[in-house]
Amino acid sequence: MLFVTKSYLPDPEEYHRQLERIWKTGILTNDGPLGRELEDGLREFLKLKFIKFTTNGTVVLQMALKALKITGEVITTPFSYVATTNAILWENCTPIFADISPDDFNIDPDKIEPLITERTQAIMATHVYGNACQVERIQEIADRHNLNVIYDAAHTFGATYQGRSILSYGDLSTCSFHATKVFHTIEGGCIVAHDEAMNQKLHNYRSFGHRNDDYYSIGINAKNSEFHAAMGLVMLPKVPELIAKRKQVAGWYDARLNFDRVKRPPLRDGMVYNYAYYPVVFDSEEVLLRVKDALIANEIVPRRYFYPSLNKLDFLPEASKQICPVSEDYALRVLSLPFHPELPEFEVERVCRVINETV
Ligand SMILES: Cc1ncc(COP(=O)(O)O)c(C=O)c1O
Repeated sequence: MLFVTKSYLPDPEEYHRQLERIWKTGILTNDGPLGRELEDGLREFLKLKFIKFTTNGTVVLQMALKALKITGEVITTPFSYVATTNAILWENCTPIFADISPDDFNIDPDKIEPLITERTQAIMATHVYGNACQVERIQEIADRHNLNVIYDAAHTFGATYQGRSILSYGDLSTCSFHATKVFHTIEGGCIVAHDEAMNQKLHNYRSFGHRNDDYYSIGINAKNSEFHAAMGLVMLPKVPELIAKRKQVAGWYDARLNFDRVKRPPLRDGMVYNYAYYPVVFDSEEVLLRVKDALIANEIVPRRYFYPSLNKLDFLPEASKQICPVSEDYALRVLSLPFHPELPEFEVERVCRVINETV
C-alpha cells in the first residue's frame, strides 16, 4: 500500500545516542536539558527569539487564544485542518468564517473586513500547505480594527516568506511537529511569541501555570517529554536535506501530471517553500471521486485534505454558519497525493499514470 504520507524515521543508532543522555540525566520530562537544547536549536534554525516546545500543534492554538484573552468572535479560515476551528470552539469563542482566495487557498483579506463587528477580537488564519497568507494585508486590517492575529503555521516548518520564517508573523504563531510533518518530534508542536513577557506567560501556561512552588496563572499540561525532544534533536539538522528531497519528489510529479486536467494551488511570490504537501485540484468532485477510486484500486491511498470545508461542520453554532463558496468548492475538488521525502520516482510515475488515465 502506498499511503498519502510516511513518517521519516532516522537511523535508530542516532536516536539511541540521544536517548542514552536521558538515562544519564534521569530527567524524562518537565523542561529537561534535551527539551531546552531543542528550543535553542529551533531558535537558531528558524532565526526566532522566543519559542516554546509543546506536546502538539493543537494545544498551542488554545494557549494562544487564552494568552491574548480572546473570548468573542474569531475570524478564521474554513480551509484548514479541523484543529483550527476546534481550538476556537474549545476556548468557548465563536469562529466566523471568511472565505478563501482562489489564488492561494488562504483566507481572503477582502472577505475579512465585512465580517468585523464589535464582538470581533482576533483573526486566526492558516498558512495552508505551508504557503504564506497575505500577512501584510491581514496585519493592516488587524491594526485598523485593533484585533489580534494568530497564525496556525502547522505546515510551515522550514519555509520562509520575504526572507523570514513564516512562524515570525502575527502576534502569535503556532506549529505542529506531528510525525507526518516536514520536521517532527513524533508528537509535538511549538508557539512563537515576540516579547519576553508573552514568552514567560506561555512558559507558565505550558506547565500548569507554576514554577516550583510559585503559582502565577492558570495553565495546562502542554510540556513535551525528553524522548520527543530527542527525536527533534536528531531530526533538526536533517531538515534542509529532507526539504531538498521533497523538492525533488515534487519535481517528479510536476514533470508527469497532465496539467490540462489537474491544477496546483499557486505559491505566493517571496516564498521559499518547504514542500509540505502535494495537493492537486480536479475539475469536479465527480472526477476527484473517480481518481480516488482508481488510485485505491491500485493500492494508492490519497487523502481529501482539506475536506469538508470547515464552515460546513455539523457541530458549529448558528453564528458560525457563514457561506464560503470558494472554500466549499475547493474542498470538494482537492486531493493530497502520496508525498514524503523517501518516495521513489517509480511510485510517483505509477500515481501519475493512474491519474492521467482516469482524468
Ligand atoms: C493546519 C493544522 N493545524 C493544526 C494541526 C494540529 O497539529 P497537531 O496534530 O500537532 O495537534 C494540524 C495537524 O495536522 C494542521 O494541519
